[in-house]
Amino acid sequence: MKNLETTPEGKLLIYGATGYTGTLIVHEASRRGIDFEIAGRSEDRLSALAAELNVPYHVFPVADREGWKRALKGKTALLNIAGPFSETAEQAMEAAIKSQVHYFDITAEVDIYRLAESKDVAAEAAGIMLLSGAGLFATYDPLVVHTAKRVKNPVAMRAAFKYSGGFTPGSVASSGNIINAGLLVRKNGEIKKLTEAPSASFDLGDGPEDFSLMPLGGLVISYKSTGIPDIEEYFAMAVPAEEGSDTFKEGHPVAASGAERSKILIEVTGEDGTVVRSMADTQDGYMPTVTSAVEVVMHALNGSFKIGFQSPASAYGAELLTSLQDVNITDF
Ligand SMILES: NC(=O)c1ccc[n+]([C@@H]2O[C@H](COP(=O)([O-])OP(=O)(O)OC[C@H]3O[C@@H](n4cnc5c(N)ncnc54)[C@H](OP(=O)(O)O)[C@@H]3O)[C@@H](O)[C@H]2O)c1
Repeated sequence: MKNLETTPEGKLLIYGATGYTGTLIVHEASRRGIDFEIAGRSEDRLSALAAELNVPYHVFPVADREGWKRALKGKTALLNIAGPFSETAEQAMEAAIKSQVHYFDITAEVDIYRLAESKDVAAEAAGIMLLSGAGLFATYDPLVVHTAKRVKNPVAMRAAFKYSGGFTPGSVASSGNIINAGLLVRKNGEIKKLTEAPSASFDLGDGPEDFSLMPLGGLVISYKSTGIPDIEEYFAMAVPAEEGSDTFKEGHPVAASGAERSKILIEVTGEDGTVVRSMADTQDGYMPTVTSAVEVVMHALNGSFKIGFQSPASAYGAELLTSLQDVNITDF
């Protein structure tokens, strides 16, 4: 195993670099000493950001195959941050497969995980890793593996994610895609659409709270890493910050507002009926996604990867949790 604190050897292309999350990610990549170039569709914003960071930039729309070919030449990995991913992931994944570079994104759109899963054979043939969900799921997915290890033969999993922070325009569009995917659950290993949402209450440390069923992607991602046949996922928002308060800047949530922390609770049932729970709490806002995405990508840049469709934990195990910044785990 290589020492991941050393400067990464591979070269990275970051597409969608000029969005709110992209801008945070490129600064984090620069801080971590990654050799990277940036890309996207908006020349003005890209040239300004490239000048600030002193890195090369590429301007091309997501459907431009030649643009992808040129920008991916000599790269080890692509990190796609241009969302909603329903508009960008197919083209970016295909470009990565064609240019034989590892693919990463930070989506939370369940259909994009299914898309990545459908490209498993093509990614394997190209000798690349296709890892969709290097943001939220870099914490969520290894936490599922960690929790599942606490029972013998895990047979069911429920997840409750309580997000604290605001949403950018890209996230609002992505949230629409998640909601439009419908009330999806995994039952006996198959994805099913429910007609009525089951109500659920979880205690994340402040007493029982109501959550709504929402397919966050563990249905695909954590099924990949654990094979647990029954999966349900729930979501709730912490009390939203108000526009004009310290937690917003130019309509965007500030990365670290110091408000309530975001929490992910995983509940796993074993074959013998034992129920265990583990919870991760992270900084509010988008900063956990920023630092985790860079951390996950650095593994591949350092030569640590598994070919084909992978989830954060199928590639890097529950141990990934220990390399993430400012994540606390509680078992109960
Ligand atoms: N799961 C997680 O952990 C997590 C966390 C944070 C964000 N995200 C997701 O990441 C995505 C980006 O978020 P954000 O905060 O950066 O949003 P944002 O500030 O609204 O920026 C969106 C970015 O995507 C680009 N883009 C959108 N559609 C495009 C298209 N069709 N072709 C090329 N570029 C396109 C935009 O380019 P222009 O600048 O040219 O418009 C911009 O750079 C969203 O889908 C969001 O849900 C996920």
